[in-house]
Amino acid sequence: MKAIIWTKYGLPDGLQLKEVEKPTPKDNEVLIKIHASSVTAGDCEMRRLELPLMLSFPMRLYAGFLKPKRITILGQELAGEVVEIGKDVTTYKVGNQVFGTTGLGFGAYAEYICLPEKPGDAQGTLALKPTNSTYEEATAVPTAGFEALHFLRKANIQSGEKVLIVGAGGSIGTFAVQLARHFGTEVTGVDSTEKLELIQSLGANQVVDYTKEDYTRSGETYDLIIDVVGKGSVVRRLNLLKERGYYFLAYAGLSHILLSMWFFLMSNKKLKIESSSQKKEDLIFLKQLFEDGKLKSIVDRSYPLEQTAEAHRYVETGQKLGNVVIVCGVS
Ligand SMILES: NC(=O)c1ccc[n+]([C@@H]2O[C@H](COP(=O)([O-])OP(=O)(O)OC[C@H]3O[C@@H](n4cnc5c(N)ncnc54)[C@H](OP(=O)(O)O)[C@@H]3O)[C@@H](O)[C@H]2O)c1
Repeated sequence: MKAIIWTKYGLPDGLQLKEVEKPTPKDNEVLIKIHASSVTAGDCEMRRLELPLMLSFPMRLYAGFLKPKRITILGQELAGEVVEIGKDVTTYKVGNQVFGTTGLGFGAYAEYICLPEKPGDAQGTLALKPTNSTYEEATAVPTAGFEALHFLRKANIQSGEKVLIVGAGGSIGTFAVQLARHFGTEVTGVDSTEKLELIQSLGANQVVDYTKEDYTRSGETYDLIIDVVGKGSVVRRLNLLKERGYYFLAYAGLSHILLSMWFFLMSNKKLKIESSSQKKEDLIFLKQLFEDGKLKSIVDRSYPLEQTAEAHRYVETGQKLGNVVIVCGVS
């Protein structure tokens, strides 16, 4: 089968198309023909191995110290069709259309992948894909959808509360805007000029162009801040938080970790640095919202598998609206 092999840490040119052996499912696994995968900002950080401090060293030990060894195919999200099942598999049948994540095994930049029917911790998760979605739309949902849902639920967000989403036009942001509106909150989305129209079309009540306006001086306060960017002064944004409000950072450096400890000890405001646990029931929740027409995927560009390196380059420009997808087969 064709796969994009991750040959080195660093530039996208280390992602190379190669012919590798097609995997065979174990008794508890399904073999999926992948129709679509995705490229997120997180995938680019992983490729470069430029991760938050607490992740970069363990990830290097895990993936390979000097170059990728244990993990040789990147890609964490997929949508595709079950083409073979192991003898113990009962949940899926050949022909089922599925979507989900691969967890720490990665491996979705390929034509086929074997995944466990019932994944363990960090093995990702799988479910039947929304019946009304294309493979390309479906593959963009899981990881960003999980994060957005996790932040909103952890903050115990209530209808009528106010949510500020910093980086609202990207992968996590576009799902966070829609989910926050679904939960009845009032949403302000912050991003650059080209992304504001999209954010508004997804339901945001207000949009702010961070390249033109300093929203930290607006005098507004929020019950929840979802910040997928983490740049600039987090402390200034924390001042926008109401007492007992939550501030979630999707990407955190050492200074953010120290700040969150200080806030834990000294303040009623909560600065949280955490990730979702990618539960199957959450994937089914997102699928249901998609089928009910309450959630959609914004797919900016699709690239064929062969051009995965090009897709990584585009994501790194920061220009993408919502999501970038890799098409591995007929969609
Ligand atoms: N996607 C996932 O599933 C996932 C899961 C876990 C963790 N994360 C982490 O979360 C972070 C963000 O992920 P993402 O996939 O949502 O990224 P993304 O798709 O690149 O979105 C980030 C958005 O933030 C905007 N932005 C940049 N600087 C800004 C600023 N100063 N103020 C407001 N907006 C700004 C960007 O637009 P402009 O460049 O045009 O300004 C872009 O629209 C990554 O570091 C990733 O590692 C992602």
